[in-house]
Amino acid sequence: MDTQKALRLLFILCIFLCVKLHIYSQQLNYDKEVEILLSKMTLNEKIGQMNQLNFYEMNDELLEKVKKGETGSLLNTTDPRTVNLLQKAAMESRLGIPLLIARDVIHGYKTIFPIPLGQAASFDPQIAETGARVAAVEASENGIRWTFAPMIDIARDARWGRIAESPGEDPYLTGIMGEAMVKGFQGTDLSDPTSMAACAKHFVGYGASEGGRDYNSTSITPNALKNTYLPPFQKSIDAGVATVMTSFNDNDGIPSSGNKNLLKNILRGEMGFNGLIVSDWNSVGEMITHGFAADGKDAAMISANVGLDMEMNTELYIKHLKQLVEEGKVLETNIDNSVRYILKLKYRLGLFSNPYIEVNKPTTTYSDKHLQAAKDAAIKSAVLLKNENVLPLNETQRIAILGPMADAPYDQLGTWIFDGNASHTVTPIGALKSNKDYKNLKVIYEPILRSTTDTDTSNFSKIQEIVKKTDVAVIFLGEESRLSGEAHSLSNINLIGVQSELLKEVKKAGKPVVLVIMAGRPLTIERDLPYADAILYNFHPGTMGGPAVLDLLFGKANPSGKLPVTFVREVGQIPLYYNHNNTGRPAPDNAKTLYTDETNAKQTSVGDVSFYLDSGKEPLYPFGYGLSYSKFEYSDLTLSSNVMGMNDTLTMSVTLENTSSIEGTEVVQLYIRDLVGSIIRPVKELKGFQRVNLKAGESKAVRFTLSAEDLAFYDVDMTKKAEPGYFNVWVGGSSKAELGDTFLLE
Ligand code: GLC
Repeated sequence: MDTQKALRLLFILCIFLCVKLHIYSQQLNYDKEVEILLSKMTLNEKIGQMNQLNFYEMNDELLEKVKKGETGSLLNTTDPRTVNLLQKAAMESRLGIPLLIARDVIHGYKTIFPIPLGQAASFDPQIAETGARVAAVEASENGIRWTFAPMIDIARDARWGRIAESPGEDPYLTGIMGEAMVKGFQGTDLSDPTSMAACAKHFVGYGASEGGRDYNSTSITPNALKNTYLPPFQKSIDAGVATVMTSFNDNDGIPSSGNKNLLKNILRGEMGFNGLIVSDWNSVGEMITHGFAADGKDAAMISANVGLDMEMNTELYIKHLKQLVEEGKVLETNIDNSVRYILKLKYRLGLFSNPYIEVNKPTTTYSDKHLQAAKDAAIKSAVLLKNENVLPLNETQRIAILGPMADAPYDQLGTWIFDGNASHTVTPIGALKSNKDYKNLKVIYEPILRSTTDTDTSNFSKIQEIVKKTDVAVIFLGEESRLSGEAHSLSNINLIGVQSELLKEVKKAGKPVVLVIMAGRPLTIERDLPYADAILYNFHPGTMGGPAVLDLLFGKANPSGKLPVTFVREVGQIPLYYNHNNTGRPAPDNAKTLYTDETNAKQTSVGDVSFYLDSGKEPLYPFGYGLSYSKFEYSDLTLSSNVMGMNDTLTMSVTLENTSSIEGTEVVQLYIRDLVGSIIRPVKELKGFQRVNLKAGESKAVRFTLSAEDLAFYDVDMTKKAEPGYFNVWVGGSSKAELGDTFLLE
């Protein structure tokens, strides 16, 4: 490299280091500014910062509270002018401390992206980051600078309505998607007016609620906590997430908002989180209902003493903390520590220097760029489950479009879309009408049902006549928005109502049937399979779901999504997930079930292994599964070595070939199994994935690298390390990957 080039490189490096130093010094300075401000604050003012209120309406009482410094944060106001009035009142308080304005911006603010379970199906963290960035830009212009996302609860129970908000069952995928959302929401500089503080939630284990019943108890062992539920939070913490939210559930009898070990020893201590901890909605007050706190004062004392910095909505801190401090039951140093986290976040967001929202600039909501990003996300999030040579469709075909989700602008958005406007949703029917590419299609459309829960079959009589006039029927079924999300658990996850009957009725007409499902969870659809020649699964695809689905159905886009969660055959199989333990009696693939021809069968004739007599051991579709219009073949798995030292890395290479005539993208997945551990290790663990695009007939070597750190886990002594021994490794297009090899870690 010549001298000129070297000098130029050195100059750029110096600039980069100066910028990093400046940002870091800013952080250090905030410590100084925080201490100066804290030293001026009265106990009442400190406690006021720890009190987060829900915004119901603007009134003098609220403004008075703000002016008196009795609240540090408000959630659920989305009008920038209202925010400015509130911030003005805050800046007029004795010490002029601005407010944190928060909202649940989970998968979009106005432009709605696929629900997080759908985004996870893309196996594309860029989708999640872009979606979060778009949401931050749209929400921040409306005054919101703190969102309660990403939700990174591991979810293995499709009965739980909040599986919709999660990235699914796998810690590795969940960690990567959560990290991407943190980056998207927070941007590179939290003080940028388009940045929002992110919030890793719900800490921790909420997705393991017993029976899939929301808010229910969990019984997560220390091993499962450390090796399954905490890793995604560590990933978000390492990505710099500004806040963490405690969960509603009690784990092993202790509610998270009062769990000293969880918050002090693990979150603050072991995981090194140094941001703001906020409670979930009424969870501090709910410790009374749990039977963990005697009354509001007791609850306030418990939470304040375990380091819960900000109490959402129950106002027990503002009612009781002063007295608790005076009684010596809560140390003022604890209060000071919480207030430091709160003030520091406000400094980092730039709120002290500029708390106000510019109200006259043009809006970014629903911009073409944002809508295009939402469409791209919806395309990559769709999973092709079945295709008996029916898809892609062609535009010469006469098409019957039926079903309640074909034109459901609100329900297509999914859950947690407080601010998404259904009038902007482009449904599949809407796309047919508005998109010039599809305007000339010969389509007969009839919803047949008013909604997915409509049980009026009187329109079934129209089906035969409609379908017989066409070449192919496309049926849009699934779940209306309210059937998933918070407090929306289901004990039966079949297609609800008479949707399966509708599908059967359509198939009677003898034409090819394409089933498009829009839902907030994996449904048990085995009984529907015989009546659908192709199935495209969309986890509520958001604002641009219509154009995305049409492009996929007509081959303008090629499905590439993979399942982020196992699809069970029967709800009774739950929990059933790919990264399970082997047990001492794993069921072989040919495990017999009840339906044999034996009579007077003896007790030991079936079932001496770990499976279900009536539904076997296999799911309907495994984690990581998804088809494409292309055909991908894997071959030549080679390891850089079959022996790996603790300080080595191991590279695996596989040849991926697109043997079809259609360009497409495959999510290549890397799984391992640690064959012997000081505690049992799962039969498979996802340790890498790559989206690989191949032209027709193209081949490519796909490489992964593993280090001992990638193989480490919390062992029987709760020490995180890799243990020497043999490992199996597989590479393939789902968690059923069979192309494998073995290596020895020494
Ligand atoms: C809700 C949810 C939580 C949300 C909070 C604020 O009950 O559990 O995810 O962020 O309250 O709306």
